[in-house]
Amino acid sequence: MIGDISKEIECLKTSVEAEELRVKVFGKKGSLTQEFSKLKDLAGEEKKVRAKELNELKERYTNELYLKTEILKTKELQERLLREEIDVTLFSPLTSKGAIHPVNATMDRIIEYFISLNFGVESGPLVEDEFHNFEALNIQPHHPARDMQDTFYFKDGKLLRTHTSPVQIRTMKNSKPPIRIISPGAVFRRDYDLTHTPMFHQVEGLVVDEIGKVSFSNLKYILEDFLTYMFGEVDVRFRTSFFPFTEPSAEVDISCIFCKGSGCRVCKKTGWLEVLGCGIVDKNVFDAVGYKNVSGYAFGLGVERFAMLIHNVNDLRSFFETDTRMLEQFR
Ligand code: DAH
Repeated sequence: MIGDISKEIECLKTSVEAEELRVKVFGKKGSLTQEFSKLKDLAGEEKKVRAKELNELKERYTNELYLKTEILKTKELQERLLREEIDVTLFSPLTSKGAIHPVNATMDRIIEYFISLNFGVESGPLVEDEFHNFEALNIQPHHPARDMQDTFYFKDGKLLRTHTSPVQIRTMKNSKPPIRIISPGAVFRRDYDLTHTPMFHQVEGLVVDEIGKVSFSNLKYILEDFLTYMFGEVDVRFRTSFFPFTEPSAEVDISCIFCKGSGCRVCKKTGWLEVLGCGIVDKNVFDAVGYKNVSGYAFGLGVERFAMLIHNVNDLRSFFETDTRMLEQFR
């Protein structure tokens, strides 16, 4: 026989107990199930009456148990919510923190140096015209840099600037000497290999003042100091070179920071690393912006090249592949 199941349901304290009771009553060997199986021993009217009785009981207990279980579950949920206090302002230990990209960090360091020496920071458009990017900088029409192979051109003749030097032109046109600026920013060239990507960053420098106030020795002094700031104790050498916008021009090398000048893979056994270009502003450039009786110096450097040397990275492309395993190292 089955006992008073309604009473048992009423006395339930947890949803786990409720589930246990459900199995005890309705399960394969449950008390009610067993009562149902006894029906086969009965016959006629008696069987009919008992079956009706059992079905009524089944329906009643099912409903009562369902209701009780719902009440218990709701109560348990409320209790759990009260117990579990979640501080949503806490950081999860699994959250990965961002880091400054090595190219940005290098850029910031370069800018900091020149700001400390009272240089202003100028910017210019990434989409330039031939005048600012080439012509005013004394880059002749047949110069290889103007070739479609090297420069991204738009249909209307505009182009993606190939260097930050056009900002020199814009700054001189928009202001008057004395000028003392750097211009950091992205530049674009059709190039892709270990040490070249179609987009990279340069910092341009320009100082213009009355004749006699700006000399190559000023340029040399500031660049030597700057390179020591960036790379620590290094030897600096100026090699004569050519740029259309400066005359005389020089390329600047530092003694190899990897082998201290004795010759290795990075410096190609020369002991020296080329790090920037510079020179005294060419008269043709001043003519293009209508400047008279002034002198100036300029320099330009590639930020990625600096970042590669500082962090000993030999494939420039890895800076831009957004592989977090690579970037996480610079945290
Ligand atoms: N514009 C040159 C380049 O992209 C870099 C450069 C060299 C800038 C010498 C200068 C400079 O201002 O004097 O390769």
